[in-house]
Amino acid sequence: MPSRRTVLQLLAGAATAPALSGCAAGPDPAAAWRAPGAAETDPRLAALAHAILCPNPHNRQPWLVELQGTSEIMLWPDLDRLLPATDPFSRQITLGCGAFLELFDLAARAQGRTAIITPWPEGEPQPNLDTRPFAHIALTDAPAQRDGLFDHIPARRTNREAYGPDAPPDSALTGIRDDAALSEGLSIGWSSSGQLLQDLRTLAWEAFDIEMTTPEAYMESVNLMRIGAADIARHRDGLTLKGPMIEIARTLGLLNKTTLADLDNPFTKSGIEAFKPLAEQAPAYLWLTSADNSRTMQLRAGRAYARINLAATARGLAMHPWSQSLQEYPEQAEKLALAERLMNAPGDARVQMFVRIGVGKTIGPSPRRGLSEHLRAA
Ligand SMILES: Cc1cc2nc3c(=O)[nH]c(=O)nc-3n(C[C@H](O)[C@H](O)[C@H](O)COP(=O)(O)O)c2cc1C
Repeated sequence: MPSRRTVLQLLAGAATAPALSGCAAGPDPAAAWRAPGAAETDPRLAALAHAILCPNPHNRQPWLVELQGTSEIMLWPDLDRLLPATDPFSRQITLGCGAFLELFDLAARAQGRTAIITPWPEGEPQPNLDTRPFAHIALTDAPAQRDGLFDHIPARRTNREAYGPDAPPDSALTGIRDDAALSEGLSIGWSSSGQLLQDLRTLAWEAFDIEMTTPEAYMESVNLMRIGAADIARHRDGLTLKGPMIEIARTLGLLNKTTLADLDNPFTKSGIEAFKPLAEQAPAYLWLTSADNSRTMQLRAGRAYARINLAATARGLAMHPWSQSLQEYPEQAEKLALAERLMNAPGDARVQMFVRIGVGKTIGPSPRRGLSEHLRAA
């Protein structure tokens, strides 16, 4: 055990820990968020510098980019960055690819250019992703209209903090739906009161609890956990635990991947339990449904989710997906059926995103590896 004096020294030092973050073990994990693309002369790279800031599952950043000729781009899913336990058919990874396309498109428009996006140019991979690209883009000089959602890219977050008790007004939720400009086959629903809200709160927590107690699924998240500033700077991806208390617990050996893997560990237990009130006191939930679950529809849903998240940001609203009940591993089958019933997705229809929405405190950005990490030689 460290002496009392050591603990006090650590506590004193912890106050300065955030200021030191990024110096320790690698490039600044937040660098990609500052003036994205400003230094790029190739308009494709300037747009790609925005695309990598999109929401994506477990922050895997699973995109491989090849610049072709002077104006084209081919995009592949990075098969080394899938989530086989929680996302066995890579539905969510594909949504993250769709979100990437949407931010590219917004950035192209902001340049006054038109991006001609062809999804799955070599066909849709089923039932798993393979070496085929998810999109081809031709960036043309045909004039395009700027979309105001572009301005909110640097401030967009996934916010896992507690939200205030007040549900967003219906006018805000309707505004988000309108801004999402849903393409054919997609629809949005929400609940901010009554029995449905209660049922969705219970669903979110119970499915989360199943994930925590399903070893393979839980360990997938543990393995992607970046603990403290140095670990975050080293990886610049994954799920982050940061802040003064985290640095102290890590330094004292109270928090590491081994303690996180142990569900009987008191810190791990309380860390998981902290999510319960977030689910059970959520002021509102919103969901996105598609008419079928084809790869093309998944890309469209990802594009729509990026717009929803940006439209919420524009209205000062925070957003936090609770995807566990939508996941396809066997232990969630019952919750998936319930999710589809509660959110009215019969037959071939599929709930693609299920998120908590409300007013939360301002938080910093999640890490990004940087554009150069995604580029591969033609
Ligand atoms: C398809 C999809 C599913 C997601 N599911 C969850 C989830 O279940 N829980 C969660 O906390 N975040 C979830 N997220 C959010 C990502 O973890 C988040 O986008 C990523 O960590 C990057 O952080 P950022 O959105 O703040 O940039 C999901 C995002 C996407 C696109």
